[in-house]
Amino acid sequence: MSVFYQPAVLGALTLPNRILMAPLGRARAHEETRQPLPRVVTYYQQRASAGLIISEATHVSAESVSRPGGSAIHHNAQVQAWLPITEAVHAAGGRTLNTPDEASFDVGGDQGYIDYPFLQAVAH
Ligand SMILES: Cc1cc2nc3c(=O)[nH]c(=O)nc-3n(C[C@H](O)[C@H](O)[C@H](O)COP(=O)(O)O)c2cc1C
Repeated sequence: MSVFYQPAVLGALTLPNRILMAPLGRARAHEETRQPLPRVVTYYQQRASAGLIISEATHVSAESVSRPGGSAIHHNAQVQAWLPITEAVHAAGGRTLNTPDEASFDVGGDQGYIDYPFLQAVAH
């Protein structure tokens, strides 16, 4: 069997295979609320057989804006809009890792992504 289909431990996660989906922003969030649109559920659910989905960059503050259609996750309504997505992926047997958008570095800290405990665990 190809090594791609063998399980792997990545930080706290045990992945059933070594296929990782790269983060790909698809500009499918509502322009004003910045909540992911309903079709984003289908988009991620269709890719749930990957060992890990690294979801698109999501903004973590109201001030953080990088491009039209970019999603955010700093407001409770946005969190609620992401829930059906993660639930659909989990129901299909998959896992997701959210990534903060690079335009949010001033919120995440001057070291950016590495401030986040999960990525720290993976990086070291
Ligand atoms: C349309 C598109 C959207 C992307 N969106 C994101 C994103 O939201 N977050 C991110 O970290 N990288 C993003 N990327 C970068 C991809 O993850 C990256 O291209 C991929 O990991 C392959 O790496 P490479 O371009 O260095 O070969 C995006 C790339 C493309 C083409």
